[in-house]
Amino acid sequence: MTSATQGLPAFDYAARRKQVLDEIGDGIAVFRAPPLAVHANDVEYRYRPKSNFFYLTGYGEPDAVAVLDGSADKERFILFVPPRDPERETWTGPRAGVEGAVDQFGADAAYPIEQLSEQLIPRITHAGALHYRFGHDEVFNHRLLDMAKRAWASRPRTANDRPTSLIDSGPLVYEMRLKKSDAELAWLRRAIDIAADAHIAAQRETRPGQSEYEVEALVEYSFRRRGASGWAYPSIVAGGANATVLHYIANDDPLRDGELLLIDAGCEVGYYCADITRTFPIGDDFSPAQRQIYDLVLASQEAACDAVRPGVTVDAIHDRAVEVLVDGLLRLGLVPGSDVAQALGSEEYKKFYMHRTSHWLGMDVHDVGAYNVDGAPRPLEPGMVLTVEPGLYFAPRLEGIPQEYQGIGIRIEDDVLVTDDGADILTQAVPKRPDDILNLRGR
Ligand code: GLY
Ligand code: MN
Ligand code: MN
Repeated sequence: MTSATQGLPAFDYAARRKQVLDEIGDGIAVFRAPPLAVHANDVEYRYRPKSNFFYLTGYGEPDAVAVLDGSADKERFILFVPPRDPERETWTGPRAGVEGAVDQFGADAAYPIEQLSEQLIPRITHAGALHYRFGHDEVFNHRLLDMAKRAWASRPRTANDRPTSLIDSGPLVYEMRLKKSDAELAWLRRAIDIAADAHIAAQRETRPGQSEYEVEALVEYSFRRRGASGWAYPSIVAGGANATVLHYIANDDPLRDGELLLIDAGCEVGYYCADITRTFPIGDDFSPAQRQIYDLVLASQEAACDAVRPGVTVDAIHDRAVEVLVDGLLRLGLVPGSDVAQALGSEEYKKFYMHRTSHWLGMDVHDVGAYNVDGAPRPLEPGMVLTVEPGLYFAPRLEGIPQEYQGIGIRIEDDVLVTDDGADILTQAVPKRPDDILNLRGR
């Protein structure tokens, strides 16, 4: 960790592992940290651990496997890791190795990663169930299935009454990650604090004639200079009509006077993510049409933020945001209908607001955790963190839309913690009211 992250609380990885072990009974759970990804030829990407793996181990090196074996008496937490290798370490830096896996990371036993199959297959044989999340790691998906096949086929006939269940470990860990502890919130607040500063710097410094990439560079410089590991997702720095492309990340167009700039950018600290969007004028002020749409998105965003409290659902927050948007669109004559109910029913608004209002936020920017439980939207609980991010997007040459609205894309996104009696808007340091924005820009 960098100096900027020192002083933040450590996580109790052993308590997290105990919770998983308590849940899986005599099952065995397997988590994999993939090898380094190749950028080109022998150039590799900087490594970012998989969130579940790091959440349970605190071990951040590539090419490892963590096993929680509920059927074992002694070796219940086993790490398979790259062994020490002085020659390789000259190139890539020190490794914890097998010894470090035990001494520093608390494994009951550790083995070189090369011994995975020979060590894991007998353990799967004895386990009541195999817990594993089939994700994007195709190589390991196949490898583990092959190990399971061999384990189950090797059981003696006299023991073939053992279950051979394969259980998705995702939901178990995802539920744990959904509600944030005080220690996790301290890291998340740190990421948000740094990202907020980056947005403030961008609002202050942006001028007509600059390029999107200059603002992108300022934002990401602001992340790194305070010790964040970098962006939590590729920054969206979208001037003018580029803001109507939801996942615009090219960031290479000039910034023009009279247009708006949408910045959706957040950094990562200790593997916790900030996710903030603001939209502001590149020049001196909003045009009347821009201001109409901005005020509408802001009203929707503030109403949705006001709705966040324990017991409310993410669906209800979305409905509140949409209700305000549709009411405004109707008044501006941008959607048909005789009243809000009819305009909502026709769903014409989805041409301009086509995404959801909220997602969970944590170690992953689109964090894990079920949105529905037992077939119904889940009520929010204290400790959950979600985004609130309505927007309106009028693509250029959109049929039936007056010219002055075409090419306007506006989103406002805050990160919100559900508290015991309401909500804490963690990103409130970044101006979003027009007067505050113009004030910050010296206008
Ligand atoms: N930046 C990704 C999102 O807002 O969901
Ligand atoms: Mn978001
Ligand atoms: Mn975002």
